Amino acid sequence: MKKSNIAIMIFCLGFTFNMFSQNIIPKPVSMTLKNGSLSVDSRLPIVYDKTDVNQTKIIKHLQDVFTTLGFAMQTAEMSQGPAIRLSKSSSTAPKSEAYSLTVNENGIHIQANDFGGFFNGLQTLRQLLPINRQTSTVSIPYLDIDDYPRFAWRGLMLDVSRHFFSVEDVKQYIDQMVQYKYNVLHWHLTDDEGWRVEIKSLPKLTSVGAWRVERHGKFGDGRAFPKENEKATYGGFYTQDQIKDVVAYALERNVTIVPELDVPGHSMAVLAAYPELSVGKTPKFVNPGSKFSEWYGDGTFKMLIENTLDPTNEKVYEFLDKVMTEVAALFPGKYIHMGGDECYKGYWEESKSVQDFMKKNKIKDSHELQSYFVTRVEKIISSKGKNTIGWDEILEGGLAKGAAVMSWRGMKGGIEAAKLGHKVVMSPTTFAYIDYTQGDKSVETNIYADLSLEKSYEFEPLPEGVDPSLILGGQANLWTEAIPHLDYAMYMTYPRALATAESVWSPANLKSWPDFAKRVEHHFDRFDQQGVTISKAIYDPVVNVAKKESNIVVTLTSPVANTEIRYSLDNTYPLHKANVYRAPLTIPDGHLFLRTQLYRNGQPLGRMLQISREDLVKRAK
Ligand code: ACM
Repeated sequence: MKKSNIAIMIFCLGFTFNMFSQNIIPKPVSMTLKNGSLSVDSRLPIVYDKTDVNQTKIIKHLQDVFTTLGFAMQTAEMSQGPAIRLSKSSSTAPKSEAYSLTVNENGIHIQANDFGGFFNGLQTLRQLLPINRQTSTVSIPYLDIDDYPRFAWRGLMLDVSRHFFSVEDVKQYIDQMVQYKYNVLHWHLTDDEGWRVEIKSLPKLTSVGAWRVERHGKFGDGRAFPKENEKATYGGFYTQDQIKDVVAYALERNVTIVPELDVPGHSMAVLAAYPELSVGKTPKFVNPGSKFSEWYGDGTFKMLIENTLDPTNEKVYEFLDKVMTEVAALFPGKYIHMGGDECYKGYWEESKSVQDFMKKNKIKDSHELQSYFVTRVEKIISSKGKNTIGWDEILEGGLAKGAAVMSWRGMKGGIEAAKLGHKVVMSPTTFAYIDYTQGDKSVETNIYADLSLEKSYEFEPLPEGVDPSLILGGQANLWTEAIPHLDYAMYMTYPRALATAESVWSPANLKSWPDFAKRVEHHFDRFDQQGVTISKAIYDPVVNVAKKESNIVVTLTSPVANTEIRYSLDNTYPLHKANVYRAPLTIPDGHLFLRTQLYRNGQPLGRMLQISREDLVKRAK
């Protein structure tokens, strides 16, 4: 081989090593790259302590990682030469889920003190390896990593009510999230659009509440209510055996599942099954996504069909006791989520019997009535040996001390809850609602709000002045009104969930958008190679429109480095040789389109955006 070729090869190998090691998401607490690299193939034995259950449980996962690369790693009692070694952490005060990972001439060494630590160490090792292998061995750079999570609760929420996701879908969702060290799956199991968990003592919850008439198109817009005698054919639910299977699958991957039973609002599916639990006691149906509420833009709203449980009816608490008894037995985690969000109180306020109850019990208004309900449910949940968590509305009117709050209407509910001594999980709409539109409106499905990757990366779960011991962590939420299947769920979840993963795992001072954006680009390849299609909206220009006097002025920016923004305003393409954007554009009059696209090294990077002047004018308002 010519000297120059050898030099190129060494350069390329070095580049590959750096490529993997410098791109870990979430960023480790500390990482030192060393000179040299370890060559990995099936001859590398796995040596571990069989008496340590945390290590024995990890072996299958470890072997699976290498099996996907075509290597068959065997376990061995001991090894003189290089090996993959697992051992207890030598740290005297190891943090929960912490690990260290060393790669050197002796092989790969993962040290941890609990299962989570070994599992997280394995996820980092996985990111140091390619997804596929073209060569007979793969190389890992010599390095030392010391790593531990910033927060104990690192969650994603999956709504399976608005659309039903199969057991296999949920398992795939878990497979993907654990690669980024998430450890909580918040499973939104019930809502107006379907009840998804079998409760054996209340069979109608699933025989009736899990099924709705089939409708297509945008939720809330033009979806007709059920016709008389129309068969409810869309939906599904998880049997208790399926739930146990998913819970075990998650636990084997260091994930605790937090089930959510959303009450007293969002309960149309319950009321379809048991209308006697509502104030009106009138027959209901499982909502097929029809519009049944009015929103007034300031957070207030009206439900045109009753979807709340009657908090003054003892039968409601008997019902919830049955539900919580079975749910508590299915989910080994500490928390049960009782929802509590967006409870419309109009039907309570209009009911004479509810008003009489309030007078008799000295309950001054409907907020206090909600608080009465929350307190009763909290007691039921704690009687099953579990802690309650709920959306930030459960604070209204006072909340039992032991209950935790999930802050979604911004961070303020979480701050207020922490000031009152409650534990808090932050999942604010502003940074963590991954159902929101993530790219330009002209190329994405629009819902009512936007959340770019860059904005999600700004998520800081610990507000200033708040006792850090009360912030359990943070979570991103995937509501699925507009997400009918797993492929789109992945597209909406990633890469924004990578941003959230870093916000809840990595030290705040290590966060940097340009550095993160570079690493995300590398992970695009990993997703591609895993056959998971995710959003590459960061490869599209960001279009900001302003009205300046009578002019429409457009500012274009690129979320990623090393790009040129090209554009045309004369209704032409391709853009290969079009104008390079250098300064804000004043849009001329006429029937024209702004066409714009990012280029890198002369090649188009993402999608070409095409926005009519009329739409620009609308955006400027
Ligand atoms: C919520 O988004 N309603 C919690």
